[in-house]
Amino acid sequence: MNLFEINGLHAHYGKSHILHGINMAIPEASIVSLLGRNGSGRSTLMKTIMGLVPPTAGSVQLVGQELAGQRPYDICRSGIGYVPEERLVFPNLTVEENLMMGVQKAYSDVPQWTVDEMYNYFPRLKERRDINAGYLSGGEQQMLTMCRSLLGNPRLLLIDEPTEGLAPKIVEVVMEVILDIARRGVAVVLVEQKLTIALKVADEVHVMGHGELVFKGTPKALADDPDIRRRWLEVA
Ligand SMILES: Nc1ncnc2c1ncn2[C@@H]1O[C@H](COP(=O)(O)OP(=O)(O)OP(=O)(O)O)[C@@H](O)[C@H]1O
Ligand SMILES: [Mg+2]
Repeated sequence: MNLFEINGLHAHYGKSHILHGINMAIPEASIVSLLGRNGSGRSTLMKTIMGLVPPTAGSVQLVGQELAGQRPYDICRSGIGYVPEERLVFPNLTVEENLMMGVQKAYSDVPQWTVDEMYNYFPRLKERRDINAGYLSGGEQQMLTMCRSLLGNPRLLLIDEPTEGLAPKIVEVVMEVILDIARRGVAVVLVEQKLTIALKVADEVHVMGHGELVFKGTPKALADDPDIRRRWLEVA
């Protein structure tokens, strides 16, 4: 059985039909890069998985448990972590308090992450642990959001454009953290605009176009397929 499966998932914003029957299967400990042009529906897919956008049809299953139609809070409790595009920190809480807000008890089959591990990944957060998160730079808030989600000990982590606006050195660290997450058995769906990064970390690449998955394959298969890249990824 796959860790995570989506079948025939549809979503609308009002009358606009955005997701058109998405099917996806993700094994444990694998990294899927979700690619596509602006507006292709990548963030909507993540929001629909999380229940923030209600699915209008289809199923979303984590270890065989149906999540479609459940509330975001319960979906998160079931073991899906979400790092949205918009950095969502609690501005009036300190860095460390923000991290503590994310802590959820681990399932027995899920690795337990600790605040100290987060500080080891991002020493900058440790230096600023007693500062209110509202004072952090955008990049630091990004790191904080990602660490807070990880402390929820998810089985599957959805990360939407984590390297956007980060300095190249920090981008490297974020990539290492993502690889580490998968090494510890957690599956990752990554929306990443930088193609080289997306291809480097992924076990599998899914390309979205107009709310459908138009390509699934290995990073090498995509690298070897200029037609798909031209049609669905590169800016004309
Ligand atoms: N809250 C909303 N209400 C109505 N339409 C929306 C809303 N959010 C997104 N859309 C539309 O849904 C489509 C998919 O948007 P989505 O944000 O999922 O794309 P994306 O692939 O994440 O692209 P990017 O992050 O580059 O904008 C777009 O046409 C967008 O305009
Ligand atoms: Mg998006």
